[in-house]
Amino acid sequence: MACHGNNATPPSPAHAPGGESVDPRRVAERLSERFQNTGPGGSASAIDPRVREHIPAFDAPFYQAGLAGYSDAAMRLIARRHGCPLCVTEALLDRTLLAGGRGFAKADLGDLHDNVPGGADDAPLVCQIMGSDPREMAAAALKAVEQRARSDRDYRELAYAGRDEAFARDIAGSGIRLQEGEQRSDHGGDAPTAPTDDGFAAIDVNFACPVKKISRKARGGHWLAEPVGAVRILEAVREALPASVPVTVKLRRSFDDTPEMVEAFERVFAAAYGIGCAWVTVHGRTVEQKYIGPSRWDVLRDLCERHPDKLIFGSGDIWNVGDIFRMIGYCGVAGVSVARGCIGNPWIFRQARELLAGREPSPPSIVEQRAVLEQHFALLLRVNQGMRHAENATAKAMRKFGIRFASHHPQGESVRLKMIAVTTTQGWFDVLDEYYGIEAAS
Ligand SMILES: Cc1cc2nc3c(=O)[nH]c(=O)nc-3n(C[C@H](O)[C@H](O)[C@H](O)COP(=O)(O)O)c2cc1C
Repeated sequence: MACHGNNATPPSPAHAPGGESVDPRRVAERLSERFQNTGPGGSASAIDPRVREHIPAFDAPFYQAGLAGYSDAAMRLIARRHGCPLCVTEALLDRTLLAGGRGFAKADLGDLHDNVPGGADDAPLVCQIMGSDPREMAAAALKAVEQRARSDRDYRELAYAGRDEAFARDIAGSGIRLQEGEQRSDHGGDAPTAPTDDGFAAIDVNFACPVKKISRKARGGHWLAEPVGAVRILEAVREALPASVPVTVKLRRSFDDTPEMVEAFERVFAAAYGIGCAWVTVHGRTVEQKYIGPSRWDVLRDLCERHPDKLIFGSGDIWNVGDIFRMIGYCGVAGVSVARGCIGNPWIFRQARELLAGREPSPPSIVEQRAVLEQHFALLLRVNQGMRHAENATAKAMRKFGIRFASHHPQGESVRLKMIAVTTTQGWFDVLDEYYGIEAAS
């Protein structure tokens, strides 16, 4: 699901008047002191214990955001190996999930045909869904959380039974394959199945994606302009899932800056908690802004001040480890969603753990950079298995990561240009040998 629109803006600071005085080291220290040993069974923690009541393994105040086109299982596993406590899939369209088949491909490292989310190493994993219809969203959410339990429920029946002809035409027109007999319907009336340990840890509803409406129907961030419909979706999703599965929501700070839209945001935000959502992540840009201009941390701060009892996560303009703790210290959010700042920079998570442990954040050595580039390639090749010309396709797909990784290299610009030119596996490893070889490391 393309959820990025125009995202080519270079790193720019957030709008946070007075934020210069926030010392990330001090914030990290305070978090460690405040929440130490507040996890389940007194385990080490640096996050509000209410978060861990929902997802016990979520033990630090940051997570890897959904990033369409990037945050597949390969990127997620690399992030986790560097200390990222939680990852979110990219926004998956409800209809695509319901159609099955490759619907879970983006969330999956294992057997794609079984629609099983990433393996045990890729946990806890939150499945983010996006769509236009409450029943489809609810059925897709249920399907997502029941995958590991291998439920035989007919999810399409839940979404589409009794719908009128116009709706059926709409689905047919969406180009989504609805194969007969793909799922059995003999358990259609069952109560929702509680997830097993290795299924999705939560469902995140996306009301943030700025990509335009389809067939005049709202989805993603466009729901912020239609709060009544947005609330219906949240209600339907929450109701469809077992109470043990947390539902979270991703919002923009508003659809635009008009007073009506600011009010609409407040309605959706309040309803989310009223319905029983565990937390809300707010991206400090409007939907209209897409990815252009600063994220308004001052707006997030105001929101947190007005709702001190609520778990709120923040997003927008997190470019380095300092930004993670600056946002927490400035805005008062419970944690931070790391997005563009972790593309080609999994060390941001290691550095965040280092700050929490009272140590200086360490930059990656050339040897570490090479190891991660090789690991990421190998993991992506596994994700791409079965694809035609998988090796070369993987090398090409790695370019966009390699370009970002290049920023850590002393000859960053030369590496970047060489990465851009990669078209084959051989070409990929040639760049590694030239810039990340033994000589470069010494
Ligand atoms: C390429 C790209 C893809 C994205 N895909 C998603 C997505 O699938 N789901 C989501 O919630 N946010 C998505 N986002 C938004 C990010 O999660 C994040 O909210 C946004 O980039 C602001 O954070 P940043 O300024 O620190 O990058 C995407 C952003 C980019 C740049």
